[in-house]
Amino acid sequence: MAEHEFSWSLDYSVGIDILDYDHQELFATVNDLHNAISDGTESDVIVPIIDRLSKYVAEHFQREEHILSEYNFPFLADHRRKHHEFARVIYAIRHILANCPERLSYDKLLNFLENWLVRHIMGEDMKYKAFMRGDYGRRDTDIVMPIPSKKDSEAVETYDEKRKEHELVAITVHVPVQLANIIRRCARVLQLGGEKADRLEELTDPIGYLNNDEALKIAKIVIQ
Ligand SMILES: [Fe+2]
Repeated sequence: MAEHEFSWSLDYSVGIDILDYDHQELFATVNDLHNAISDGTESDVIVPIIDRLSKYVAEHFQREEHILSEYNFPFLADHRRKHHEFARVIYAIRHILANCPERLSYDKLLNFLENWLVRHIMGEDMKYKAFMRGDYGRRDTDIVMPIPSKKDSEAVETYDEKRKEHELVAITVHVPVQLANIIRRCARVLQLGGEKADRLEELTDPIGYLNNDEALKIAKIVIQ
């Protein structure tokens, strides 16, 4: 059978060598997965490829987010959220492969990975390429969330969603007295937002305690 070719090209270049290199590796890994699945390979070969993908995705996202934060990229929080959502799906896929592999559709899995990678690079990563080029009037400091132009309906939607996310709500919880201060500090970090808040949110993500139903729900896009 002819080898499947899902490969990186210059059209996908984000203008930062190390990130282009990461993207090439991700394409190559998805390509390996495609070929392994086409060959009817057993899960003992597929699982290590998914593990490799998962590990590389995590490293790449961290690297990309670090660079974007160094440059004060204004849409970093949204970008990070998209990375995190993808990483959750990969985690759920890994869980499904280990616990109920018969529920996974390999066709849907490959479609999802290839589409996500291409759409993320062309849609989201290209935003930072444009920003680095100065298209948004980049400044070195203090750009938090510029109001998007009305023409850009997707950006307007994101902006509205973001405003809703920032509505305040009062909650009361009863906690052991010795934890009260740390819980107050966590609440304050989350209230202020930013990188620390994102990290804290990730830390408290219930992803580490998935059961089958939750994993199937998170990864529903690749379930048959
Ligand atoms: Fe990205």
